Amino acid sequence: MTAISQLATTRATGSGMNVPTADQKRLVIVGATGMLGGYALRYALEHPTVGQVTAIGRRKIGISHPKLNEVLHSDFTDCSALAEALSRQDAAVFCLGTYTGVVPDAELRTITVDYTIEFARVLHGSSPEATFAFLSGSGADPTGRSRMAYARYKGEAEKALLAAGFPDVYLFRPAYIYPVEPRREPNLSYRLLRAIYPAFRILFPNQVIRADNLARAMVDVAVCGTGERRGPIFENPDIRAMVESVDARTGPRSST
Ligand SMILES: NC(=O)c1ccc[n+]([C@@H]2O[C@H](COP(=O)([O-])OP(=O)(O)OC[C@H]3O[C@@H](n4cnc5c(N)ncnc54)[C@H](OP(=O)(O)O)[C@@H]3O)[C@@H](O)[C@H]2O)c1
Repeated sequence: MTAISQLATTRATGSGMNVPTADQKRLVIVGATGMLGGYALRYALEHPTVGQVTAIGRRKIGISHPKLNEVLHSDFTDCSALAEALSRQDAAVFCLGTYTGVVPDAELRTITVDYTIEFARVLHGSSPEATFAFLSGSGADPTGRSRMAYARYKGEAEKALLAAGFPDVYLFRPAYIYPVEPRREPNLSYRLLRAIYPAFRILFPNQVIRADNLARAMVDVAVCGTGERRGPIFENPDIRAMVESVDARTGPRSST
């Protein structure tokens, strides 16, 4: 374990940390330096139901906000040092992850499966009633039979989360996530998808979701519940419907 994770440096990034009111929620976001986690963080900080956001990652986010409590943690194979930071939390949005081809296969499995399970273990020990929203992926296969390693690993993580003892686990299985803002794409497939997105979204509307909209749906479900949708698995059509519900309540942010 590194010095950073041993210390699990918890600190308010703004002076005068916001204290949640009785009807506000405490939300954890894991992976807020990434694309999805970054949108989730921005949306959560604006969300009236969220009184405090604990953002956990291995790098600093680079913003400060009265609701934001930033926790640096470098080794997700052991999250024991996060136990205190994870106490009294109402919900977690887990966006930590990587892509096929970015890291060797064994590391892809470690990040996708082991990190998720280890984080969930410590969160459940500290906040057993928390809601867990997990960024999985289309095709995730809990049976382990898929020929795609990524699908097997996401499925394995999903299965473990459902067995972890949380009262509510929501598994988001988006197909292609449109990045909205230009970014360095993880592999050739994503470069191609980005290039053909204008046509792709018209031809296959249920195969795409904007990153900002997906993040809004994840945060909203984590802190406000699912409404009439039962879950625990949400595919693109469900996620699009959630975004429409949020838009109807709070006003539209973007077109899908
Ligand atoms: N793009 C799509 O179409 C699509 C579709 C379905 C599912 N997904 C899934 O969505 C998830 C997130 O996607 P994204 O685009 O938001 O990813 P991203 O921008 O690459 O962000 C990933 C986040 O995970 C963290 N992370 C990665 N490896 C880590 C490690 N070894 N230790 C600690 N933290 C680590 C990153 O931290 P650093 O900033 O420190 O690196 C970052 O906060 C992935 O699991 C991906 O498979 C994507």
